[in-house]
Amino acid sequence: MNKYDCSFFDRGVERRGTACEKWDGISQRLGHDVLPMWVADMDFACADEIMDAIRHRTMHPVFGYTDYTDQCTQALLSFLRRRHGLALQPENHAMLPCVITGLKTAVLTLTQPGDGVIVQPPVYGPFYSSVRDNGRELMECPLHRDERGHYTMDLTSVEEALRSGAKLMLLCNPQNPAGRMWTQQELTNLWQLLERYGCALVSDEIHMDFVLGDKPFVSILSVAKGEADRVAALTSASKTFNLAGLQQASLLCRNKDMLAAMKKQMSCAGVTQGNVFAMVATEAAHLHGDAWLDGMLDYLRKAYSLLAEELAKRLPQAVLTPLEATYLAWIDLRAYGLPPEELVKRTNDHGVAFTEGTFFGKETGAGFLRINIACPHSHTLEAVKRLEAAIKA
Ligand SMILES: Cc1ncc(COP(=O)(O)O)c(C=O)c1O
Repeated sequence: MNKYDCSFFDRGVERRGTACEKWDGISQRLGHDVLPMWVADMDFACADEIMDAIRHRTMHPVFGYTDYTDQCTQALLSFLRRRHGLALQPENHAMLPCVITGLKTAVLTLTQPGDGVIVQPPVYGPFYSSVRDNGRELMECPLHRDERGHYTMDLTSVEEALRSGAKLMLLCNPQNPAGRMWTQQELTNLWQLLERYGCALVSDEIHMDFVLGDKPFVSILSVAKGEADRVAALTSASKTFNLAGLQQASLLCRNKDMLAAMKKQMSCAGVTQGNVFAMVATEAAHLHGDAWLDGMLDYLRKAYSLLAEELAKRLPQAVLTPLEATYLAWIDLRAYGLPPEELVKRTNDHGVAFTEGTFFGKETGAGFLRINIACPHSHTLEAVKRLEAAIKA
């Protein structure tokens, strides 16, 4: 029997007072407590196997400069092979402090000032800032959404951006907030198109392990497998195992020149060594974290069905996007006719905080909220109750 069963995750964990952004940050900002359903980390204790590894490392009293270890890389590669059938070599890998560093590094390395970079709204906010803040041109190719809330790619608009000279595309797979895991066929169609125009592709795969349905996750590196392909993926144990405060992520790339250029860019920014605790925690997660991860995924599947039931009961006009992956559910509340700022104000006044839809896209997110369901089920149910009160106020 898995000791990481429903009761383990139901217990949750008291996080207030740990300077965590999700609970303490928002109460400070709003000046009162709210039930936080926003920032994408989890209100679950991490696996004992990770805690033991960190505790063990604290027994040595020196925390000096520490090199990335081969064991840490090997643990990641065996995890990727075991869980996703992805075959990579140590030389295809580089460490990063976080995935956002990877997105920004990709933009700086693979494009010149003024070059076009394709993103697909609605998408995680830092995709936009990674392009804009670095003086590149955003080329927005919004996803297509049907009335059930199912999203697909619009390759016609991607091709238009390519014809206008786009040099790089930042892909989100699994997609936050649209909840899609792109299929082998969708990724193949996309990559063939980009390749035809000589456009590089960087895929943010940080949510790769949150597979909720019965379809497998497909990495872009399982589609574009050639050593010359200008493709990279970014991932991290930080989401999967709830280690975001430790700051460590991975860049995966078979193209030697592209990987070397990105490593050089990071080195120029002074990013060369890692965090000693992140390294031992990540290695333990990848070697010994499967039981925790499987228990957590079962818990999330239940959370999503509870959310769907509760929303249907309390707010029948809300459209909940089907969730193939991630723990971030995307809710279309446009039928209730509240302007985005009013939706945020009312929900906060009613003691709950979601991520506002416009964080993911000014137009494509207006009237939407994103709810983080990686918390005890009781929180998810309470959040929907407060959302109903806010909307009906
Ligand atoms: C799609 C996506 N990419 C990146 C990040 C942030 O990753 P990191 O903390 O490693 O920069 C998040 C966090 O929510 C995310 O959802």
